[in-house]
Amino acid sequence: MLVNLKSVLPKARKRRYAVGAFNTSNLEITQAIIKAAEELNSPVIIATSEKAIRYAGIESVSQIIIGMAKRATVPVVLHLDHGSSFDIVRECIKYNYTSVMIDASHLPFHENVKLTREVVRYAHKRGVTVEAEIGRLAGIEDDRKVRKTEAIYTDPDEARRFAEESGCDALAVAIGTSHGAYKFKGKPRLRIDILKEIAREVKIPLVLHGASGVKAKWINRINKFGGALEHARGVPDVLIKKAVQHGISKINTDTDVRIAFTAGLRQYLAQNRKDFDPRVITGYARDMITRVIKDRIDTFGSVQKA
Ligand code: G3H
Ligand code: 13P
Ligand code: ZN
Repeated sequence: MLVNLKSVLPKARKRRYAVGAFNTSNLEITQAIIKAAEELNSPVIIATSEKAIRYAGIESVSQIIIGMAKRATVPVVLHLDHGSSFDIVRECIKYNYTSVMIDASHLPFHENVKLTREVVRYAHKRGVTVEAEIGRLAGIEDDRKVRKTEAIYTDPDEARRFAEESGCDALAVAIGTSHGAYKFKGKPRLRIDILKEIAREVKIPLVLHGASGVKAKWINRINKFGGALEHARGVPDVLIKKAVQHGISKINTDTDVRIAFTAGLRQYLAQNRKDFDPRVITGYARDMITRVIKDRIDTFGSVQKA
């Protein structure tokens, strides 16, 4: 069934598990996300970034996801990831998204609050939930590059004021993760101390972006079959579990999905040199994505929480 964040996140925060948000831009990834969630009886969030919307076309991608979500045996949220403007929010709501993120985290505090509050007012009137962000992650924030030196941890006191003043339903915080496949140079580290303080101050569900695990098993498979991904490193499961214990209840994963897809494609094509049926080739990659998403859902603790 198609639902918004309100039906899945507050419960998760209370019972200390997290709901996975997985990015999609096509049919096969969407199928893999829903299959994994159904097999584990877990709620799930399907997210499209603005780039994904531009790639697939909002009409096609929203219809595919909504059709599948309505038929799914588990709660499914259709969510805009890193929305950068009121216009894209309006467009997504027009196409029946049940949830949007407005990411004005690059703006000064008051401007971030102001834009988020306007979006909240518009979205709530239409039964749509809103995620916002405070603090900045290194890496890619929508189409902008944020340099490591520009990344700022979320201030707990600002986070409380932001949540109160904006009225958002979920709040993304910056505690040391970054988007993409190259998250840490040295030992992976998250500021769980900051997260604990934020969780004391902010009672709405908290969101962790840039949370992919980038596991060696998949990177090695890509490299074995012709890829060249060196020094890729993600957030270890133990840190994810700690973050969930301390208030994170929505976890975003895109890179792991991309890695599973690429590993599947590379392996299949290398081992089956005579095949050229896209359904078989992408079907194999789709199965790899399902496996990875099931592993993520298990780590987040949302198995049997549908
Ligand atoms: O948060 C970033 C997501 O991984 C989306 O990436 O803008 O390339 O679709 P994208
Ligand atoms: P990863 O790049 O770690 O998968 O993060 C994705 C994300 O935060 C999407 O909003
Ligand atoms: Zn993100």
